[in-house]
Amino acid sequence: MLELVNSKRKMANEVHVIVVGNEKGGTGKTTSSMHIVMGLLKLGFSVGSIDIDSRQQSLSNFFTNREYTEGEEHYGLEMPEHYFIPRALGKETVEDIERDEHDRFMRKLRHLEETKDFVLIDTPGSNTYLARLAHSYSDTIITPINDSFIDFDLLAKLDRSGNVLRPSLYSEMVWNQRMVRAQRDGESRATDWLVLCNRLSHLDAKNKRRIFGALEKLSDRIGFRVVSGFTERVIYREMYQKGLTVLDILDHDLGVRPTLSHIAARAEVWDLLKSLRLDNVNERIKNFESRAQESKESANSQDKDEENSYKNNDELQAAI
Ligand SMILES: Nc1ncnc2c1ncn2[C@@H]1O[C@H](COP(=O)(O)OP(=O)(O)OP(=O)(O)O)[C@@H](O)[C@H]1O
Ligand SMILES: [Mg+2]
Repeated sequence: MLELVNSKRKMANEVHVIVVGNEKGGTGKTTSSMHIVMGLLKLGFSVGSIDIDSRQQSLSNFFTNREYTEGEEHYGLEMPEHYFIPRALGKETVEDIERDEHDRFMRKLRHLEETKDFVLIDTPGSNTYLARLAHSYSDTIITPINDSFIDFDLLAKLDRSGNVLRPSLYSEMVWNQRMVRAQRDGESRATDWLVLCNRLSHLDAKNKRRIFGALEKLSDRIGFRVVSGFTERVIYREMYQKGLTVLDILDHDLGVRPTLSHIAARAEVWDLLKSLRLDNVNERIKNFESRAQESKESANSQDKDEENSYKNNDELQAAI
């Protein structure tokens, strides 16, 4: 098997690489990826994205849909610089396959590292060479899980009382790639691992507490942080075919009336970005929120002025 420890990373650029991964299908990797990319773009960062899910290509399809929409409607939609890296075909040996995948992936990653503030990599729900390689370059790994104890298997094997018997294959893979990275890039490049609870509203409060409690216990053993993710909302998926997200509804005039649910969803995206614990991201979200607050206040005061002027008009009319 090809060594992953061979290309030392350039440190000149302060790029931050986020890998969204786990080894189970359908837990929300692509949904999280789409919203993280769009959130960072809305905050004014330059973003590159890489899709290494050869089979589904869902993130690539989302951006293709977005390009079509932009071509037709001219909304002025932001785009990342996006690449799809398919698996190698027609090679004789495993080593040839891995060398080919390694070289194509590294060329795109290096290019984005040199030119962008953030690179996001969406991975397939399986353990592939490209997925392992991507994990070994991550500053942050985000692992979405759904709201059930079944998804705990993704992280660790538990006994009937909830004690950890052993880490899962995925947790072992993350551990190994953290080691690969530390060896290649030095101890200072530690990877932060976030486990994100997705589609939460299926559960009642008691069950949520049980799940979060058990996850917190597991987090120390396995070495991740638990962060709250997205609630179950149709608006996270209904605009996929158009390549749009809730953030676009609130930011562009798309002819869709923004609702409280859109605003709550955007707050969930900001919360996820805040959980990266990056000063530049937090500062921009704070500025964004205070601008939003100001425009809300000015809209309120405009409403008041209008109300007052109507009142004065009434008084004037009455006086005449
Ligand atoms: N918070 C959410 N609210 C509503 N629907 C969601 C939410 N998160 C994910 N979904 C939906 O669940 C399905 C699976 O999500 P997604 O494609 O993001 O998972 P994935 O982990 O990327 O899957 P795969 O492993 O197959 O690539 C999609 O139809 C998506 O729209
Ligand atoms: Mg996916």
